[in-house]
Amino acid sequence: MNAIKTIGLEYTYADGTNALSGINFEAKESEKVAILGPNGSGKTTLFYHFNGLVEPARGEVLVFGQKISKTNIDEVRKRVGLVFQESDNQLFSPTVFEDIAFGPKNLGLGANEIKNKVSQVLHRFDIENLARKNPSNLSCGQKKKVAIAGVLAMEPDVLILDEPTSGMDASGITDTIDILDELNDEGKTIIISTHDSDLAASWADRVYILNKGKVFKSGIPRHIFADEKLVREAGLRQPVIVQTYREFRARGISKGEIPLSVLDLMESVDAKVMNIRCAIAASDVLAGDDVCLGIKDGMLVADKGSKGVTGKVVFAGKKGEDIAVKEVTGDLQQLAGRITIVRVPGIIEGGSRAVDMEKVREILSKNKHQKIGAMGTSAKVLVNKMGIRCDFEFDVIQSGMLAALRGFDVCIFASGGMAGRVIENVKERKLKYECFVL
Ligand SMILES: Nc1ncnc2c1ncn2[C@@H]1O[C@H](COP(=O)(O)OP(=O)(O)OP(=O)(O)O)[C@@H](O)[C@H]1O
Ligand SMILES: [Mg+2]
Repeated sequence: MNAIKTIGLEYTYADGTNALSGINFEAKESEKVAILGPNGSGKTTLFYHFNGLVEPARGEVLVFGQKISKTNIDEVRKRVGLVFQESDNQLFSPTVFEDIAFGPKNLGLGANEIKNKVSQVLHRFDIENLARKNPSNLSCGQKKKVAIAGVLAMEPDVLILDEPTSGMDASGITDTIDILDELNDEGKTIIISTHDSDLAASWADRVYILNKGKVFKSGIPRHIFADEKLVREAGLRQPVIVQTYREFRARGISKGEIPLSVLDLMESVDAKVMNIRCAIAASDVLAGDDVCLGIKDGMLVADKGSKGVTGKVVFAGKKGEDIAVKEVTGDLQQLAGRITIVRVPGIIEGGSRAVDMEKVREILSKNKHQKIGAMGTSAKVLVNKMGIRCDFEFDVIQSGMLAALRGFDVCIFASGGMAGRVIENVKERKLKYECFVL
């Protein structure tokens, strides 16, 4: 089922600017869609159509299969929440609390229910400390969070966010993307516009490129970003990973499909190239010595021996020096660490309050984890509450897997349905794992 669909959408502003021409757009239910496009390409204008803020000059907009009309516009606005590009256009109440409460109030909810909803989103965004502040006194990134929180409080099925991460610092971006992923796991459709090709490549299920009011191209990120000429012609920047891959490929180091993550990039490296490794000598070695490879403190170490992963020293080196090892045989993945996934109940399942902390302590004491990560609101709240220090909060699945591949044992606390996503990824890369459900 399509959450949003437009057919032949056209729009011209009063001054005669032709902002959209013949837009055919689709976002399926529970899909994550990113719209890229240079300034003035029509992203904001298109978003205004998704919840009936403006009426198309020609063509139609369907929300869950229903054409937007005067009779269903209230229902559409309830189901499709739009977060404006400029937060100042959205925030107008004297306090953050009242601003977020505005939507639920309009839905006719009772005072207690409103209070609960507001506290829940304040908690989700970790902005409880801003509740009594005047929105106009907030920083740009804080305003953005409050604006998103306000729309979320109405619990829409589709969340449309016009450049949600612009003006945010790195941790603000991480938190926001994490929340969007969590909401998507809860079944919501998420549509964002962005100028960040890296974000679109790594986050979206599907990408649309707009240019001069038209759909320049749409498709899955791997197809879109594989076409260098197209991305350039659309006035976009290539994701850094893709640029790196192209340089590797041109030098005969990488091959295969274009990567969208650091993990993919590593897998693109040709096996023949990987046959030669740089390692740290664990003892004095001579050229031609047989060595076995191991991992210490996340680095490849070569010691004399012929068991496990083995190779031959290319040139002599003293203990502690960097050396090269050729003819590496054996699967380096057997040196990877173990991943423990701890599923924390999601917000809608009671969150961290529903957790037996004794059980968590037991899991942590039984398994010696060298690296810990938390993803999703309830998992982050739990680790904070228990004073557990996290090594990664950004891109937790990938960071965890990369750490495991460097030999570290890893523990990932994941909220609700996100745990399933971690397991899927870990299985796909054939890493050792176990899972605990709290
Ligand atoms: N209220 C308006 N009146 C007249 N023209 C407008 C109006 N709003 C937008 N436009 C024009 O419509 C076109 C599309 O603008 P829009 O804001 O949708 O682009 P955008 O892709 O969101 O750009 P940005 O990346 O800068 O946010 C532009 O040419 C813009 O100048
Ligand atoms: Mg815009």
